[in-house]
Amino acid sequence: MNYLELIQKTAENARNDLGEIRTPQSAEDFRIKYLGRKGKISDLFEKISAVPKEIKSQFGRELNSLKKELEARYEDIIEKFPKSKSTVLGEDLTLPGLKPNIGSKHIVTQTLNEIKEIFKNFGFITAEGPEVESDYYNFSALNFPEDHPARDMQDTFFVSKDLLLRTHTSPVQIRYMEKHPPPIRIIAPGRVFRNEAVSARSHCIFHQVEGLYVDRKVTFAELKGTLFNFAKLFYGSDVSIRFRPSFFPFTEPSAEMDVSCVLCRGKGCRVCKYSGWLEILGCGMVDPNVFKSVDYDPEEFTGYAFGIGIERIAMLKYGIDDIRILFDNDIRFLKQFTRI
Ligand code: DAH
Repeated sequence: MNYLELIQKTAENARNDLGEIRTPQSAEDFRIKYLGRKGKISDLFEKISAVPKEIKSQFGRELNSLKKELEARYEDIIEKFPKSKSTVLGEDLTLPGLKPNIGSKHIVTQTLNEIKEIFKNFGFITAEGPEVESDYYNFSALNFPEDHPARDMQDTFFVSKDLLLRTHTSPVQIRYMEKHPPPIRIIAPGRVFRNEAVSARSHCIFHQVEGLYVDRKVTFAELKGTLFNFAKLFYGSDVSIRFRPSFFPFTEPSAEMDVSCVLCRGKGCRVCKYSGWLEILGCGMVDPNVFKSVDYDPEEFTGYAFGIGIERIAMLKYGIDDIRILFDNDIRFLKQFTRI
């Protein structure tokens, strides 16, 4: 191939390549390949000294005009791509920004805060107790007799013969009453542990909020009124409630409270097992034996107590049907509850 043919071949390839340009990147590739410092046009200019005299000026003219043609067509093409207003070090500042990932409170924490806020407005203050508890506070002082089958109600993780991971937040009742004379009005939120197989419905670690109100002449009607108002504030004012008799060693009488199913509004659905009702807490009047273990006079004082499962009421409120999803830390799940 002689030198003039070389120019023609380069022109042909370049025109083909121009026809293929679709993106700013392919335009840039073209510029580097043909018009760059080490591009094909520069290469050809470097050959000029070796071109035979007779065709040297023609070679120069043709190469110059090819260069101009390619430059003009390249400019035309990049004109048509949308303009970025400014670029810094190759960054396109007109691109939409990347959203920073901002942390937010876990749905269990949000639910707990909501419960705390409601009871704070009812005059309850917050108390806390240890997660590693003694058998005495977790069971004996709460009127679970030694070797009584009631202790089997809760499968316990024992740390030693007398130490265990608390199975409920009720021991905080005892710890608080030991240190404070009545009247008292507390809620005690915290983590509890049960030696149970993990499934969609139960986990071995979860959270409860305990409530305790002790004074002279506290009645079951007050318990009902307080919990009814709590349910309305938490689930919405159109919720209905009902109490069913139950048994807990530390309350007498004891009850469980149901709310009308917040998902189907009482019509019956999978979550409420077509009953229209959801059980949300256990409660009752403090058993005189519990008062005796903290040296309160059961003739003088009465009180009510209740225990709410935080995961459970959050699941029922938001229609979550598997407790494990609360602890998987899957960002796609957690994000749905982001509130800033
Ligand atoms: N401690 C009970 C449990 O974990 C819940 C409970 C029921 C707490 C009745 C109470 C109560 O204070 O009065 O199952």
